[in-house]
Amino acid sequence: MPNNREVRLASRPTGWPTEQNFEFADSEVPEPGDGEVLVRNVFMSVDPYMRGRMNDVKSYTPPFALHETLQGGAVGRVEASNNASFSIGDYVSSNLGWREWFISDGRGIGKIDTTLAAPEAYLSVLGGTGFTAYVGLLDLGQPTPGETIFVSAAAGAVGSIVGQIGKIVGCRVVGSAGSDAKVSWLRDELGFDAAFNYKVEGIEDALARLCPDGIDVYFENVGGDHLQAALNHMNPFGRIAACGMISQYNNATPQPGPNNLSAIVRQRLTIRGFIVSDHADRRPDFVRDMSAWLSDGRVKDRVTIVEGIDNAPAAFLGLLRGENIGKMLVKL
Ligand SMILES: NC(=O)c1ccc[n+]([C@@H]2O[C@H](COP(=O)([O-])OP(=O)(O)OC[C@H]3O[C@@H](n4cnc5c(N)ncnc54)[C@H](OP(=O)(O)O)[C@@H]3O)[C@@H](O)[C@H]2O)c1
Repeated sequence: MPNNREVRLASRPTGWPTEQNFEFADSEVPEPGDGEVLVRNVFMSVDPYMRGRMNDVKSYTPPFALHETLQGGAVGRVEASNNASFSIGDYVSSNLGWREWFISDGRGIGKIDTTLAAPEAYLSVLGGTGFTAYVGLLDLGQPTPGETIFVSAAAGAVGSIVGQIGKIVGCRVVGSAGSDAKVSWLRDELGFDAAFNYKVEGIEDALARLCPDGIDVYFENVGGDHLQAALNHMNPFGRIAACGMISQYNNATPQPGPNNLSAIVRQRLTIRGFIVSDHADRRPDFVRDMSAWLSDGRVKDRVTIVEGIDNAPAAFLGLLRGENIGKMLVKL
């Protein structure tokens, strides 16, 4: 039988995680019993929210348990089936990543249509990433044509889709990213109206230069200095869709917040946080629209692929350092 390798949480990080916070475990791949399927994962998703689950704190998802297999989005191929609903060769999505193989009784896995897109697209543009961008921008940001959208971590998985949807709905889109290569990709290939490298140019200066008429919708992925600067440029009745604050995730101690929150009152802003899983009612609309945008080329999907489960911890650490363009995936 082939070997099944899994990644587990060895210890809880303080501040930035390291490879030492992860451990590997090997076991024989089990045989599926009655009603069960055996799945071989082919791609797994690497996500910033996992950093929060490494801490032993109460949140919207429970913390990872020490010395137990991590969880995360994955797509896999059915390799054996004793379940009438699944056939060998079917591709399924699940939350059972960070392992090469698993057994399921059919709960928690869903077939994906690989005639529409490659399996890995169901972890990026057609998966939770694309859905986060869709619901966060359209439902919380409520952009109208001609408005200016600013999105941070714009060359990442969610941010790059946010900007493209922003263009589809007729807005002016400005993004921030952490390298010149990312900035060029946003401007030259994704059609952003403007983008800047926040490691080279101050965020305040860049927003003054690139958003001369102010910001109507800020899609917040970063927090910290990005939030501080965006608040100073928000137009009256602007909306901030608070999706994530990755600049804060590795703080060993809480950092001081923005000192300009009075802008919320002065500019009559709406700031709303969201978690994509609360918006399942919008999934059919998302699948319809995103499928159409992908097939007519109005949305482009880009992934950064790291090979092999042994390199999954490095992929996660690389994501936190900004080594990805588009969605960070591990190919298993
Ligand atoms: N609310 C929800 O339901 C939901 C769902 C999915 C994701 N999220 C959140 O959405 C955000 C983006 O997630 P993603 O999966 O699309 O990840 P991602 O943007 O593909 O990857 C994270 C990116 O964050 C940037 N970054 C890291 N540290 C930074 C810092 N100190 N300042 C500025 N940028 C920094 C890096 O790019 P640079 O090179 O540009 O620095 C990195 O590539 C995260 O905050 C995540 O937690 C929320």
